[in-house]
Amino acid sequence: MELKRLTDPGQVSGFDCGDGDLNGFLIDDALPSAQKHLANTFVLCDGEKTVAYFCLLTDKITKVDIRKADWRRFRGIFPHGKHYSSYPSIKIGRFAVDSNYTKSGIGTSLMGLIKLILLQNVTLPAFRFLTVDAYLSAIPFYERNGFKLLEPLDDNRETRLMYFDMLSLSV
Ligand SMILES: CC(C)(COP(=O)(O)OP(=O)(O)OC[C@H]1O[C@@H](n2cnc3c(N)ncnc32)[C@H](O)[C@@H]1OP(=O)(O)O)[C@@H](O)C(=O)NCCC(=O)NCCS
Repeated sequence: MELKRLTDPGQVSGFDCGDGDLNGFLIDDALPSAQKHLANTFVLCDGEKTVAYFCLLTDKITKVDIRKADWRRFRGIFPHGKHYSSYPSIKIGRFAVDSNYTKSGIGTSLMGLIKLILLQNVTLPAFRFLTVDAYLSAIPFYERNGFKLLEPLDDNRETRLMYFDMLSLSV
């Protein structure tokens, strides 16, 4: 399989992860988003077939967006030294595996690859966290991949903000 940046709309025909929004984004919005410098999309291909995709954009975890108690708990990651009101992050804007390929470890392998590529890319600006707005159904998948809920008690949304600490890869 090959991981490449999405540059050609013909690359993605036939992709179906079972979610209309995620399918639609890949087919209709991924390239325009890249052209507008809003999100870059990458596809995992098996020959002509798109097996999975994800997109990346910059983000930050910010005090003003989070309940006080949750912010205090999150800030516990930084017990010493200066505290900031936001921390630089990279967002996994979309992440999906074609339904014919799920439950065989591809999502987990791809997530591991994303972490490794970002960790090794010394020309990127600094960022401490990966973030994702996780579908409720996908929370166990992200938890198994080291992500934590930023606001554990907030269960009134269709998605939940989760984060992965990149420093955990360095120790
Ligand atoms: C969520 C999603 C990305 C997971 O991708 P995946 O390739 O199935 O991920 P994995 O195979 O690594 O792990 C999925 C599950 O399969 C299980 N699994 C992994 N390898 C397996 C194997 N060889 N045999 C059986 N089960 C296996 C894992 O235990 C895991 O269980 P969990 O869901 O409770 O964590 C995929 O299901 C998907 O694209 N869903 C639709 C879109 C979506 O929800 N995207 C997330 C948006 S936030």
